[in-house]
Amino acid sequence: MKILVVGSGGREHALTWKFAQSDLVSEIVCAPGNPGMANYGDLVNVAAEDVDSLVALATDIKADLVVVGPEAPLVLGLADQLTERGIPTFGPSAAASRIEGSKSWANEIMYRLGIPCPESRTFSDAATAIQYVESCPPGGIVVKADGLAAGKGVTIPETPTEAIEAITDSLEHRAFGEAGETIVIEERLSGPELSVFAFIDGETVSNPVAARDYKRAYDGDVGANTGGMGAYTSPNLCSPSDLDHIRSSILEPVAHALVAEGCPYRGVLYAGLMLTESGPQVIEFNCRFGDPECEPLMLRLDSDLAEVCLAVAEGRLDELSVMWNQNRAVGVVVVSSKYPAAYETGFPIYGDLPSEDNAIVFHAGTSEDDDGQLITAGGRVLVVTAASTESVQDARSTAFEIADGIEFEGARYRSDIAVGAD
Ligand code: AMP
Ligand code: GLY
Repeated sequence: MKILVVGSGGREHALTWKFAQSDLVSEIVCAPGNPGMANYGDLVNVAAEDVDSLVALATDIKADLVVVGPEAPLVLGLADQLTERGIPTFGPSAAASRIEGSKSWANEIMYRLGIPCPESRTFSDAATAIQYVESCPPGGIVVKADGLAAGKGVTIPETPTEAIEAITDSLEHRAFGEAGETIVIEERLSGPELSVFAFIDGETVSNPVAARDYKRAYDGDVGANTGGMGAYTSPNLCSPSDLDHIRSSILEPVAHALVAEGCPYRGVLYAGLMLTESGPQVIEFNCRFGDPECEPLMLRLDSDLAEVCLAVAEGRLDELSVMWNQNRAVGVVVVSSKYPAAYETGFPIYGDLPSEDNAIVFHAGTSEDDDGQLITAGGRVLVVTAASTESVQDARSTAFEIADGIEFEGARYRSDIAVGAD
């Protein structure tokens, strides 16, 4: 089968690497892809948000399956348009993607289903929001843009002044454009976080798998929130019975509710959980794989990803079981110096970038100059990913050894990814 992969980051490189291992796949096309993905397929220079051109491309190449990595084209209705043209698509419709694209809608669904999640209120008027915040305990709330804000829409204010600033930034200064015309003010929870992923084809929810990501820019979880500085996955992160409970009490009720709403969910659902003292609570849903969680997760997937994605697209997930092995895997993101603040790009990348079953460097923000030299092209540049059958620490030391050997101007990474994990 011919697969079109939409996206250009480490997540899409990892998915493409996995597709290339499938006996079912004869050809891979990536839009727009990256130099790492070029090892497995043809790159076509169409942006991941250019829905009309992506639909034309999928039709033109007669894609048997389109797999959409990022959320933006899903929220814009890419899956709807492809499905209308009879092209099997992995990734939810615009209506179902609102689970990520509108935090207030996601919260409403959870309240209705009795899924544990923080208390929240929705506002579009700054004065009313400020009045509400003044009645809340200081440091007790989180302010979120309702829509997609490229990972920047969440503020965790320590003081009422910071909260008011976040409210006016979003509602009055339009810091996040349309995405922040409505905000959600949530009760602030605390506890370790867990990202849980399951494939869903409407009714059927696959067995889930867990990963942990590291969002802050610097060691010790300090600094600004980023798209993710690293991640690891281990069977010890969440027991099989806890994963089963998350499936039956969170993922299945949501899947069934979306069917009832007339927008069955087809793709991978990402539940961002906080493990509070009173049990797991959902702090967000995303309508796609996490990045960088996807990279280590692909090193634990024993099933044929192409077979799973096609089954999801065709509503046949009940015919197979998704197999995650017992390996541990770690992904360390090598970033441009000041990321997530403004950074320069175009620096040559040197060092060994292995591509082996248990140690692989996925490209996240790279490009090639006119001489074919690999150069930096983003904030998150490379995701060094390693797996071990023995321990997280074993996978970790392989990943850091490789990361140490990678050089470009200003390259840095967090050295505490998966520290102490088993
Ligand atoms: P998001 O952009 O939705 O992934 O949120 C970014 C981060 O904000 C999460 O990973 C959490 O660390 C934090 N966060 C979001 N919601 C809450 C909440 N209700 N309480 C405490 N922290 C939160
Ligand atoms: N790793 C966080 C995300 O993909 O949203």
